[in-house]
Parts: sequence; C-alpha cells; structure tokens
Amino acid sequence: MNIILLGPPGAGKGTQASRLVEQRAMVQLSTGDMLRAAVKAGTPVGLAAKSVMEAGELVSDAIVTQLIDENLAALAPEQGVIFDGYPRTLAQAESLDALLAKRDRRLDYVVELEVDEDALVDRITGRFTCAQCSTPYHDRYKQPVSAGTCDVCGSHEFKRRPDDNEETVRTRMAEYRAKTAPILPHYEAKKIVRRVDGMASVEAVAKGIDAVLDG
Ligand code: AP5
Repeated sequence: MNIILLGPPGAGKGTQASRLVEQRAMVQLSTGDMLRAAVKAGTPVGLAAKSVMEAGELVSDAIVTQLIDENLAALAPEQGVIFDGYPRTLAQAESLDALLAKRDRRLDYVVELEVDEDALVDRITGRFTCAQCSTPYHDRYKQPVSAGTCDVCGSHEFKRRPDDNEETVRTRMAEYRAKTAPILPHYEAKKIVRRVDGMASVEAVAKGIDAVLDG
C-alpha cells in the first residue's frame, strides 16, 4: 500500500507515519527529514536548502523530487510507502504520479489530517525530539516518562528544530495554504482522498487512519 499523509505543519504527519512504520512495516519517506539530513551533512542539496527551510519557504520542486526518486529506487517493489511532507505543490504531485507509474506502483490513499491552524502553533513551538533516536516529545502533551531521559533509547540529549519558532511557523502555514492545499483536487479527481480529524488525540487519529487503510 502507498499513501500520502497530507496536512499543514504540526498536523501530526510525522507522528502518525512513525506509528505506521512500527505497526505495518511501511517505509516513511519524509522530504523534511531528508532535507534536514542533507543540511546536517553539508551536502550541496543541504547548502541550497538551509536558508529556505529556516525561512519556512518551500525548497525547489526539482530537489525534493530527486530525493524521492532516489529513495524509491532503493526500495523493494512490494515495500509499502508513506509519503510524509511530499508532494507539496501541483508540480510535485504530477512528478510523483510519473515516479510511481514508472515503478508500477499505485497510490491507494491521500489521508488529509484536518486541523485548526491556531492550535498548531502551540503544537509546533512545544515540540522537541530525542537527539539520538528522534522520538518526538512535546513540552505539554508528551514529556518523557522520566524527565530528561528518552523513553526509547535512554539518551539525555534532546533537540528542537530551527524552523519551529512562531514567525517561521506562520510562513510555513501560509505556504501550505497557497501551494499545498491546492493539490487536493488533483487527488479528489482520482477519488482517493480520505479525511481524518487531526485535532483528536494521537490515539484517536491513529484509529481514524487505520479505519481508512483497513477500510
Ligand atoms: P517538514 O519536515 O515536512 O515539516 P512540516 O510539514 O512543516 O511538518 P512538521 O514536521 O512540522 O509537522 P508534522 O505534521 O509532521 O507534525 P508532528 O507529527 O511532528 O518540512 C520542513 C521544511 O522542509 C519545509 O518548511 C520546507 O522548507 C522543506 N520541505 C520539506 N518537504 C518539502 C517539499 N516536498 N517541497 C518543498 N520543501 C519541502 O507533530 C507536531 C507536534 O504535535 C509534535 O510535538 C507531536 O508530538 C504533537 N502532536 C502530534 N499529533 C498530535 C495530536 N493528535 N494531539 C496533540 N499533539 C500532537
């Protein structure tokens, strides 16, 4: 099964994708994670993307589509994929159609997480992750069980994303409204869009997504 998780910044795409990876042995292809890894490694892609990401704007379609192409090429044909944060423009959606078609893959669902944008600023500015294993936490909604120690790997180091400040989050949301939300009709025409209430608890959102995938 191949799915897209769609929703504005902080909608819970990464949270739900990690769970699907664990529970359904799917592979998560997150262009945000790929770009952050490239920035950290100082590759030419990372150098081109760094300031664009810090401003909350979109990296070029050509760069992200090449990243997705390379990552898809490394997967076994039967491996199910969750596209997280890609596609984000109509041009990317059309490129993804072509990348899937050349590998005889079919897109099963586009799951749109419906959320209230004002609540998302709170979600994003409170977010932090384990510096070792990337387990996500939140200042108010999901603290480690033992303060200062990662529940999963025991690390004591945590980090926050440089683009998780209120000003950049507002730009990221504006980018979503202007460039990403308009790709929905492309998938509505294929009758594969399903909507899940992203304002519910993490567990309830997970149930909603499971109902779609098992539907
Ligand atoms: P990217 O990394 O894709 O970021 P994003 O889309 O802004 O999404 P986030 O990772 O912020 O949010 P999320 O929906 O994954 O939420 P999460 O699960 O973490 O992109 C970053 C940048 O890279 C872009 O701005 C752009 O510059 C560039 N880029 C990436 N892809 C690109 C592309 N295709 N084209 C061009 N440029 C691209 O949850 C957020 C917080 O809320 C967490 O703390 C979590 O614990 C908490 N939470 C989650 N669900 C719930 C819930 N149900 N209730 C309460 N809290 C919850």
